[in-house]
Amino acid sequence: MPEIFINGHSVQAAENQSVLEAARASGHFIPYFCWHPKLSVAGNCRICVVQVEGRSWVEIACNMPVTEGLRVFTDSDLVQAHRKMVMQFLTLNHPVDCGICDKAGECSLQDYHYAYNGTPSISHEPKVPSTKFHDLSERIVLDNERCILCSRCVRFTHEISKSCALGIKHRGDESLVRASEDGALDRDPYSDNVIDICPVGALLSRQFLYKARVWYLQPTPSVCPGCARGCAVNIWHRKPTWQLKALDPKQNASIARVTPLENPAVNGPWICNKGRDLARIFERPRAEEPMLKGKPVELDAALDAARRLIAAARHPVALVSSWGSNEELAAFAKAFSGRLAAFVKSDCSPEPGEPIEDDLLIRADKNPNTTAARGLFGDAPAAFPTETDLVLVWGEGFPFAQLPANARIIFLNAYLQPENGHADVFFPVSLQTERAGHYTNFEGVVSGFEPCFARKPGVVDAEAVFAALTGTPKS
Ligand code: SF4
Ligand code: SF4
Ligand code: FES
Repeated sequence: MPEIFINGHSVQAAENQSVLEAARASGHFIPYFCWHPKLSVAGNCRICVVQVEGRSWVEIACNMPVTEGLRVFTDSDLVQAHRKMVMQFLTLNHPVDCGICDKAGECSLQDYHYAYNGTPSISHEPKVPSTKFHDLSERIVLDNERCILCSRCVRFTHEISKSCALGIKHRGDESLVRASEDGALDRDPYSDNVIDICPVGALLSRQFLYKARVWYLQPTPSVCPGCARGCAVNIWHRKPTWQLKALDPKQNASIARVTPLENPAVNGPWICNKGRDLARIFERPRAEEPMLKGKPVELDAALDAARRLIAAARHPVALVSSWGSNEELAAFAKAFSGRLAAFVKSDCSPEPGEPIEDDLLIRADKNPNTTAARGLFGDAPAAFPTETDLVLVWGEGFPFAQLPANARIIFLNAYLQPENGHADVFFPVSLQTERAGHYTNFEGVVSGFEPCFARKPGVVDAEAVFAALTGTPKS
């Protein structure tokens, strides 16, 4: 392990680390734009310069290997002067339109400007205009005037998603990030990661464009239920102090955006585009009333009816949700063990056109908790035994036409769907965004999610239903 000295402090670096990596690992800050821990070194932005002791010039830290006894300064007068020049160069043609830029509040260029430059442009030349709102894909717009040509987005598509969808064409101040061919970025199921890694506001999510300032939002840690990978995500929603009263209060209980939450054991720093679109899953019309044969009733009446059906059944079967949390699955097993023959149901299958599986993250099983469910219950039978007289269906996705014709049905579902009214007893249950819990992914890694929003009136947690149906106290 080479020992290096950063600003006179001894640092034990790892073999093959760069000075930038050793500095980061030991808590010494060196700014960077083009460097990214998961991408190759491009060394083009020059903001990470440091000065080696005894030298009268500066060098970039992201491409400087550590060597025994190396002594560097990250903040010498020469480094400071050079960083100021880099910032003046990078903002030479940048519009500095932070007031209307979605990246404001999360932008390295803005932060470093105040840290290392802080003065107006010294150029007497007008800024070179470039393309605004270039449609890079159906999901992403590009503002070329804001782009600092760090090439992170290009390297992402070549090295991580492997779509090679982006490149840089032309030279000098005419250089432009562009798709390698029409539709290339649309075909990349990981395309939106380039929005996160763009250090400035050049790559913008069409979905999020001008929807909110980031300082009005807060992230809640969660797990993407879109497939068995169970990527860690942040679900962003309005802060309680910034709830809207007159203007569109629906936004207070809406997902503003979803971003990756780095988890090296599951997804690293990436997620796929389906994970970004969780609002499309969770914000479908909700079921909000318990029902008996399609007629709304009070929860107690629905619980009484379900209890009577279970008590009277001689051959009851349950289809257990593969979207149930570990806690809900355990509560189900505790409540009904020995009373219902329980099998795991696949709630969701791939949508038409959806990527099935790949080598990066996406898994063929489009349910988040099949592993935990299978640890407790068997797979659903191809056909129900003829004597089945009651089926408890938990979660969506099972075709009611396949249920035994004479069996009574108890159904727990979160969404407004025609099957709800066909059940003898129906319970509207909560979503993962309304409660805490855990999923176990296909590799056995357990990840937790927290509630972002209050439960809707009339909606009940599945765990509470199980406990109430059997008299088992809610744990
Ligand atoms: S669009 Fe963003 S990530 Fe891509 S090269 Fe420009 S600044 Fe870098
Ligand atoms: S890979 Fe699966 S779990 Fe991860 S974001 Fe995509 S759909 Fe969600
Ligand atoms: S971070 Fe080192 S040159 Fe860009």
